[in-house]
Amino acid sequence: MDFKKNICVTGGAGFIGSHLVRLLVNKYPEYKIVNLDKLTYAGNLANLTDIENKPNYEFVKGDIVDTEFINDLFKQHQFDAVIHLAAESHVDRSIESPMDFIMTNIVGTANLLNAAKFNWKDNYDGKLFYHVSTDEVYGSLGETGMFLETTPYDPRSPYSSSKASSDHLVRAYYHTYKLPVVISNCSNNYGSHQFPEKLIPLFINNIKNKKPLPVYGKGENIRDWLWVEDHARAIDVIFHKAAIGETYNIGGHNEWTNIDLIKVLCKVMDRKLGRSEGESEQLITYVTDRAGHDMRYAIDATKLKNELGWVPSLQFEEGLENTIDWYLNNQEWLNNVTSGEYQKYYEQQYADR
Ligand code: NAD
Ligand code: DAU
Repeated sequence: MDFKKNICVTGGAGFIGSHLVRLLVNKYPEYKIVNLDKLTYAGNLANLTDIENKPNYEFVKGDIVDTEFINDLFKQHQFDAVIHLAAESHVDRSIESPMDFIMTNIVGTANLLNAAKFNWKDNYDGKLFYHVSTDEVYGSLGETGMFLETTPYDPRSPYSSSKASSDHLVRAYYHTYKLPVVISNCSNNYGSHQFPEKLIPLFINNIKNKKPLPVYGKGENIRDWLWVEDHARAIDVIFHKAAIGETYNIGGHNEWTNIDLIKVLCKVMDRKLGRSEGESEQLITYVTDRAGHDMRYAIDATKLKNELGWVPSLQFEEGLENTIDWYLNNQEWLNNVTSGEYQKYYEQQYADR
């Protein structure tokens, strides 16, 4: 079958990638979506069982750090576009093992850029390299202000530095080689299928199992939360409408201190699990702070709203209820990802805090 576009989504078996792949496969039967993923601990094909047999979907297992493999894949599939999400994504792991982040996030991105440049060199018409990035590249805010697309980069963790490096490389290929690129920088995502190393699914799992809730420092750090399906919708809009070379911030104007968010999570879970009010809050345990912990993130997404018409669809309270319900109703998924290696990771990460 001839498809209108061949699109390579990298990291499509991860949290955000799987939501994006699902959206694209269902919404655009005329596009072929190739999901390229290494299936690290964070990649999980169980995230995509509902679409795995669709005729416009294909999964390819592979590592973006492997230059030869990436070049062969580009030759074989003749991609019109890349939407690049594959990354090492957890800040705490980047503090323990920065080289994994440097290899995948920097070298892997450079490999993809080179493959796109090499394969598209004769004709950039209709081609696009879409790089999915994070608000963490802008650094840490004080009590006021918000990140704009023009905010100077000031990354402070190995993770955010590796993402900032990849953003710089993408822009360098645009300016130097005229490679058609767009970049988006999004705030913290939450929703179903997120690996339970990140705050919200980790705390849902611990509340359910009556385990301590390890709050870093005083719990006063602020994050700006967006429902993952709204992020996927934003990527769809930017992919189709953005001008080449542009950058868009994506966020939901939804700032919470960690401790306030955790208290809401405890309250909703007490209700859902039939526990007495206040029971889960007693699990809160203040632990040693994350090294170099960024204080506050806040995204100004006005450009995306004014230029491309995207706004978030869901209020946080509703999104959080949906997310909790998903984890409570998908115990098998949670059991599978929290067995084996996860237990080791958990002990290493939290034992000495
Ligand atoms: P994730 O960790 O859930 O998924 C990452 C995916 O990339 C996994 O499926 C993994 O197997 C794959 N991968 C890792 N290394 C690879 C390699 N070398 N080759 C091929 N595949 C590889 O991450 P996520 O939270 O879904 O984030 C996706 C992207 O969005 C990342 O680039 C991240 O920086 C960015 N982002 C995330 C958030 C967030 O809140 N989670 C917010 C803004 C931006
Ligand atoms: O802002 C976008 C970024 O959001 C993405 O680029 C990253 O990929 C994603 O992991 C996320 O980074 P954070 O570091 O903000 O997310 P995390 O869920 O790890 O932590 C959220 C906040 O909660 C942060 O202030 C640290 C705190 N925290 C986290 C964990 C895991 C705790 O207090 N205890 C914990 O056990």
